[in-house]
Amino acid sequence: MSGRLEGKSALITGSARGIGRAFAEAYVREGATVAIADIDVERAGRTAAEIGDKAYAVRLDVTDQASIEAAIKAVEERTGGIDILVNNAALFDLAPIVEITRESYDRLFSINVAGSLFMLQAATRSMIARGKGGKIINMASQAGRRGEALVAIYCATKAAIISITQSAGLDLIKHGINVNAIAPGVVDGEHWDGVDALFARYEGRPPGEKKRLVGEAVPFGRMGRAEDLTGMAIFLASPEADYIVAQTYNVDGGNWMS
Ligand SMILES: NC(=O)c1ccc[n+]([C@@H]2O[C@H](COP(=O)([O-])OP(=O)(O)OC[C@H]3O[C@@H](n4cnc5c(N)ncnc54)[C@H](O)[C@@H]3O)[C@@H](O)[C@H]2O)c1
Repeated sequence: MSGRLEGKSALITGSARGIGRAFAEAYVREGATVAIADIDVERAGRTAAEIGDKAYAVRLDVTDQASIEAAIKAVEERTGGIDILVNNAALFDLAPIVEITRESYDRLFSINVAGSLFMLQAATRSMIARGKGGKIINMASQAGRRGEALVAIYCATKAAIISITQSAGLDLIKHGINVNAIAPGVVDGEHWDGVDALFARYEGRPPGEKKRLVGEAVPFGRMGRAEDLTGMAIFLASPEADYIVAQTYNVDGGNWMS
C-alpha cells in the first residue's frame, strides 16, 4: 500500500537520525510532508535534504516552550496546519540507584516527559483550532513496561509516557485526535551505541557485548531495526487507526507481552 498519508502534514521530534528519521522517510513515501524537528538543526537539515522536497528541517528544543511554539507555527505556515505529531525525541542514561544524580533525573524528565507532554499540548491546541482532528504518536519503550536494574530514571520516563498516552488519549478523542504510543524493544543504531558504551562502563563489559547479548535474547532472533517500527507508525497515523484510542503497542520482536 502507498499514499496512506497523502496530503498530511507531520512533525516528528528528534527525527534528524535514528527511529525518527526512518519514520520521516516512511511518512514521505506514504505521501505526507514532514518537519524534521530536532535540537541538532544542522543534521536535521542534512536529513531533510537527503529525504527530499517533502521533508524540511525545523529547529526544536522540546525543553523550551518558546521553541515548541515556534516549531508548531513553522509547520502551520509551511503546510497550513499539523495533522500528525510523533513525540520521538528522548535521551537515555543509566546508573545504579546509589549513583543517580538530580541532574540526570531533571534532564531525562525534562526531555522525555515534559518535552513530549508540552509538544502534545501545543500540537493539540493547533489541531483543535483547525477542527480537523489529528493523530499523535508517543514513543514509549519496553523500559516503560517494567523496571530495569541501572535504568530507573529512563524506565520511569517511559512509564510516564504510557500513562500520559492514556490520559491524553481519553481527553482528546472528543476532538477527533487519536493519541497512541509505540513501545519498541531494542533498536540498533547510534542510540544503542551510546547505551552499549554505558553498560560497558557500569557492567565492566567489552564494547559491543551488551548489544550482542540483548540481540540474542530477542525472541525474534535479533535487535530491531528502525524500519521494523515504520509499519506501526504509518498505521497509527492513518485513518485505519481512527477507532484506536489511548493504547501503547509493543513492537519488539516478542521481548515483552502486555
Ligand atoms: N533505540 C532503541 O533501542 C529504543 C528502544 C525503545 C524506545 N526508544 C525510543 O525511541 C525514540 C527514538 O530513539 P532513537 O534510538 O532513534 O534515538 P536517537 O538518540 O538516535 O535520536 C534522538 C534524537 O532526538 C534529538 N533530541 C535530543 N534532545 C532533543 C531536544 N531537547 N529537542 C529536540 N530533539 C532532541 C537528538 O538530536 C536525536 O536526533 C526515543 O523516544 C527512544 O526513547 C528507542
